[in-house]
Amino acid sequence: MCGIFAYLSYFVEKDRRYIADTLLNGLARLEYRGYDSAGIAIDGDAENETVIVKQVGKVSALRALVDESELDWSKTYTTQTSISHTRWATHGKPAPVNAHPHRSNESNEFTIVHNGIITNYKELRTLLTNKGYSFETETDTEVVAKLLKYVYDSQRGQHISFQDLAKAVIKELEGAFAFLFKSVHYPGEIIAARRGSPLLIGIKTSENLAVDFVDVEEVTNSVAASSINEEKAPAYAKRAQSRTFTRADGSSQPLEYFLASDPSAIIEHTRRVLYLEDDDMAHINGAGDLHIYRLRRDDGLSSIRSIKTLEMELAAIMKGNFPHFMLKEIYEQPESVVNTIRGRVDFNKHSVVLGGLRNYLASIRRCRRIVFTACGTSYNSCLATRAIFEELTEIPVAVELSSEFLDRKSPIFRDDVCVFVSQSGETADTILALRYCLERGALCVGITNTVGSSISRETHCGVHINAGPEIGVASTKAYTSQYLALVMMALQLGEDRISMTERRREIINGLRELPNLVKQVLESDESIKELSKSLYKEKSMLVLSRGFQSATCLEGALKIKELSYIHCEGIMAGELKHGPLALIDENIPIVIIMTQDAYYPKVQSALQQVQARKGKPIIICNTGDSNIEDAVNRTIRIPQTVDCLQGILTIIPLQLLSYHMATLNGVDVDFPRNLAKSVTVE
Ligand code: F6R
Repeated sequence: MCGIFAYLSYFVEKDRRYIADTLLNGLARLEYRGYDSAGIAIDGDAENETVIVKQVGKVSALRALVDESELDWSKTYTTQTSISHTRWATHGKPAPVNAHPHRSNESNEFTIVHNGIITNYKELRTLLTNKGYSFETETDTEVVAKLLKYVYDSQRGQHISFQDLAKAVIKELEGAFAFLFKSVHYPGEIIAARRGSPLLIGIKTSENLAVDFVDVEEVTNSVAASSINEEKAPAYAKRAQSRTFTRADGSSQPLEYFLASDPSAIIEHTRRVLYLEDDDMAHINGAGDLHIYRLRRDDGLSSIRSIKTLEMELAAIMKGNFPHFMLKEIYEQPESVVNTIRGRVDFNKHSVVLGGLRNYLASIRRCRRIVFTACGTSYNSCLATRAIFEELTEIPVAVELSSEFLDRKSPIFRDDVCVFVSQSGETADTILALRYCLERGALCVGITNTVGSSISRETHCGVHINAGPEIGVASTKAYTSQYLALVMMALQLGEDRISMTERRREIINGLRELPNLVKQVLESDESIKELSKSLYKEKSMLVLSRGFQSATCLEGALKIKELSYIHCEGIMAGELKHGPLALIDENIPIVIIMTQDAYYPKVQSALQQVQARKGKPIIICNTGDSNIEDAVNRTIRIPQTVDCLQGILTIIPLQLLSYHMATLNGVDVDFPRNLAKSVTVE
């Protein structure tokens, strides 16, 4: 939710056109995180000047406005700092004024971008209003820009370093954030800080330039009036440890930094990145040296952050020949399922090894119960695999929505194993649920698609699903890979149960065939597209099944509503007679999933009940099922696989159906209204 991006250059000549294009391209990569407005703050013509350009809508609208502006594009800089933001509104409607960057005052002394939520902004706003500040936006973020100015001004001419100023301000904030601060008072400097929202720094140096970390111990200034509540003790007046990332030879060779909410905006510039941890504050000074400080001085955590090499390929975050990322990602599934399985399954020995869990298997097997926690599609992948997990491991499995789990403050014990499933690894509710379980001593396992994400770093162990970057806001390939990763985890855990040997063999053989079967399902795309033409104008739809397909109903309904904006409900067939049957008539479109497994007769009986009420269902069934008559465009046939893997195939027609209905409805599928890819606020 919200993407932030900054470009900084030192001892390298860049003109303003290059700088603006770098920012806009970075924002375009992050657009899936929020796309209701966007803005940039760049250095102006005069020495101490910042120019802000903001626009409602997608990054393309901002680009048009920037291009139309009368900025001098030939102006060059040897040192400059520029920040930008693409927004998913939380406080304040999408409007140019509410778009980021936010500023301290009309002369843009402090400009900031923010991803997250400041929960005590109302108190701070009242306080600052009482001190004579007036606000131009409805956002929580603006208080932070104003607070920077307030603390700066309250030094009454005494020098305060940017890092001390930033620390003093952040100390007053409650909530979650990734921030970038820029100021005309600190030319060439940037502050980046995170608590709860992701932020990483890409570093690009000229060839052969050695860069190192150096230990520094320094005495920070006493910030006499640093606190908004003046009666509080001066903050950060003690000695502080920091780490400095600097040119080892002290030279003035070119150095560029790219700061972003995720690596997709950095990869085209550099592969060398440094992930900030929660409560890290980075300060880049006017010479381009990077210092990292801990915001919480009492947590004893080191401020050493190693430089990592990004493994992702640029091509993986491009659309290629597909009109939308979502369609590309649906079509990538034959490959993404292979990548999830690759190197982990021995088809000859019928064994599964998930390296990330190897050292924890004994503890997991000993646990009292397993609690899956996730949101949205990731939650559905947990529901889809609960039955096979319980069957193979004989450990009771609870499935929790992260938000509800936290609201209930559900009891968690040291002998529980808690599994956190998240594509992004940055979903706020799931991270909070994880921290709740860590505090209670449970063993915490992460299943994510994002290396270096908060969930992958904060869990004890985990599995990377290897689906590749998922850019489309609606999750597709991550769902099938999460599903597989959970099945593989159950297979590995159940390895010591002799009684399960045959069942495990059957599933592992099924895994071998799966990529090919996924390909076959995709061949139905044309007929699904035809079917979508008869459905896209509907107001409401139902998806019905039971057993292994119950989760497919929920996930299919989620895809249809979030993309096509058609109300859609997943119905468990066993519940039909307990209420939903009242909805059935000749008008309501209903998709029934009837695959040939142990629950087939029961779904068949639900089909009869629907037909008896004049319902005209669309049926997803197996290729060889002769009980179902083919009606033109009303039957979708898919290959049969092992019952517990069948959901990986049945969801694909529903992904395609939702995609086609959405495009027919004129929806920008990669950016459905009101949604964002990564929900980093509660
Ligand atoms: C729906 C969708 C969302 C996410 C949910 C959790 O298509 O993508 O429901 O699944 O926001 O996100 P992650 O998996 O990143 O924790």
